[in-house]
Amino acid sequence: MSARIIDGAALSKAILEELRTEVAEMKQRSGKVPGLVTILVGENPASVSYVARKVRTASSLGFHEVQDSRGADITEEELLALIRAYNADPEIHGILVQLPLPRHIDEHRVLLAIDPDKDVDGFHPVNLGRLLIGGEAVTFLPCTPAGIQELLVRSGVELNGAEVVVVGRSNIVGKPLAVMLGQKGAGANATVTLTHTGTKDLAAHCRRADVLIAAAGVPGLIRPDWIKPGAAVIDVGVNRVGFNEKTGRAILAGDVDFAEACKVAGLITPVPGGVGPMTIAMLMKNTVRSAWKHLRGI
Ligand code: GUN
Repeated sequence: MSARIIDGAALSKAILEELRTEVAEMKQRSGKVPGLVTILVGENPASVSYVARKVRTASSLGFHEVQDSRGADITEEELLALIRAYNADPEIHGILVQLPLPRHIDEHRVLLAIDPDKDVDGFHPVNLGRLLIGGEAVTFLPCTPAGIQELLVRSGVELNGAEVVVVGRSNIVGKPLAVMLGQKGAGANATVTLTHTGTKDLAAHCRRADVLIAAAGVPGLIRPDWIKPGAAVIDVGVNRVGFNEKTGRAILAGDVDFAEACKVAGLITPVPGGVGPMTIAMLMKNTVRSAWKHLRGI
């Protein structure tokens, strides 16, 4: 068997095209465009590269894009004041603070300071609470879980009644994704197992999965014999395993041994080019949604 490779780059391109049309329509109707600020603290190379991609994409869609880069020595109070200023700025509909933050800054306090109605990352406790309730309560879904759900749905993977195993319980990916895929409704209604570093016999759980989602941040963690033949495998891992001197770029590896997994899985996402581009597309989708909500006064 050779797995079908899910092309996240192509799917995200299609979503961005839909959004570009929506932004043009918004501009024509209201004279406004979605406004996104990306706040970067320090110079973590991975964060610099992620933020650059977000900024490029937002600009290509015609957003009002503000990139606000601050030195790693910014104080917590200064960062909180900056966020409050963007909360009050009517041209800004989405505020993103790139994580991780330097150690002297309390990440929780920072995320709490963002107006939940501008929290396009979907990390604010209010938005996570809304996600838990589900249905109409949901305002912004966190971008990586939303991108994974969209990838699965657009690739025709049946989630209704499926056995889904999520490896990794981060607040950004594993926990919200487990909740989302277990909700009642279309593109969900799965039986979800959330596994983590305390799980006994991880391999046995993975082998039951119709949909296996690896979000542990451990290169090559998922062995090919842990994959049920024909399963859909979503690799969220973006692990920097080396540096290519020729291209000047990091060498990336997922949590799954891709070449071997392709022989067993039915569907699989590559790293890079799988989940990553979808995360950015979902960030743009949340920002457009936020702009519409602000324009309509809801
Ligand atoms: N760091 C890694 N992934 C993300 C993300 O999706 N959003 C933010 N703000 N920071 C991140």
